[in-house]
Amino acid sequence: MLYGLLRRLLFTLSPEKAHHVTMNLIQESCNIGFLRQQLANRFQFQDASLEKNLFGLRFSNPVGLGAGFDKNAKYLTELETLGFGFVEIGTVTPKGQAGNDKPRLFRLPEDNALINRMGFNNDGVDIVRERLAKWRKENPNSKLLIGGNIGKNKVTPNEDAWKDYEICFDALHPYVDFFVVNVSSPNTPGLRELQEKDALQRILMNLQARNAKLEHKRPILLKIAPDLTTEQLDDVVALATEIKLDGLVATNTTISREGLKTPSANIQAIGAGGLSGKPVQQHSTQVVQYLRQQTGGTIPIIGSGGIFTGEDAAQKLTAGADLIEVWTGFIYEGPYIVKNICEYLSRTKTNRNK
Ligand SMILES: Cc1cc2nc3c(=O)[nH]c(=O)nc-3n(C[C@H](O)[C@H](O)[C@H](O)COP(=O)(O)O)c2cc1C
Repeated sequence: MLYGLLRRLLFTLSPEKAHHVTMNLIQESCNIGFLRQQLANRFQFQDASLEKNLFGLRFSNPVGLGAGFDKNAKYLTELETLGFGFVEIGTVTPKGQAGNDKPRLFRLPEDNALINRMGFNNDGVDIVRERLAKWRKENPNSKLLIGGNIGKNKVTPNEDAWKDYEICFDALHPYVDFFVVNVSSPNTPGLRELQEKDALQRILMNLQARNAKLEHKRPILLKIAPDLTTEQLDDVVALATEIKLDGLVATNTTISREGLKTPSANIQAIGAGGLSGKPVQQHSTQVVQYLRQQTGGTIPIIGSGGIFTGEDAAQKLTAGADLIEVWTGFIYEGPYIVKNICEYLSRTKTNRNK
């Protein structure tokens, strides 16, 4: 109700501006100890039955924030205060990059959706690493789990992409709990070609070899697009099984524009980018379900795509996801989204360790 009003105000700003204004406001509030406690009391939902053990990690609840929201690991305290069980930072690339020209993020309110062509704008892995190191030092008892979502720089040719993933892995492994290899964003030219088996194998096996040498190994997950063909999905499953990948994140945004209520002239005016939110929900769920069937539950799955409510989250979990992530739903539903989902899962006992 209250967020409905605030959302109307925020939606008068450009989406990127609204994002910064909101997060900076929450940050200011969290800097004041008692206010932070008030926010935590309001937004967090504690229930031991929502805890989940996966890849040797203990998730305090199964609701995470998808990559691209906190690209530079600036808002971890705030996101923990809002109740998230885990957050994927990034996508981080070796060198900082500005991303595409603005405007590059668009709302489709009639469809409860967003289109973005951010293009991996981020501070670069060295700065993000320092920020994470500082946060870890200042928050040694935090239960928030952090996933490092890693990618390649725009200027790096695909044949050298594996080196970019290696640089990010090497820099971040002391400070993140798990990794997500992102080869599925539509906004870096050619990136999605890395979803082909040979390219993937090279990137993932190299990371696994480096991981094997570490004292504290980090689970490595792969994030895929919803636009893969059945054949490509089968390749992903075969590879994931063969190399014993730790998990899959399904799915990223789609390049499809099917079934939208927003007038096609507006869609055309927006142009290229990844579509997220309600329009990807069903398709993402189908991908989760297919992956679950084909892997027989041997490879954990994080479900992402169009989750707004507890029912949406339950649908992904029932389809075979072990954890879920929100992004567009956070923009439309506001800061109660995690609590609402957790309450629903707790009430309906949907979230059980499988
Ligand atoms: C503005 C924006 C930026 C995003 N940036 C990234 C990114 O950097 N890396 C990534 O793996 N996914 C990124 N995503 C994809 C989300 O993490 C998520 O997988 C996708 O939006 C589907 O979930 P949703 O329907 O709940 O938004 C981004 C999404 C949006 C809307």
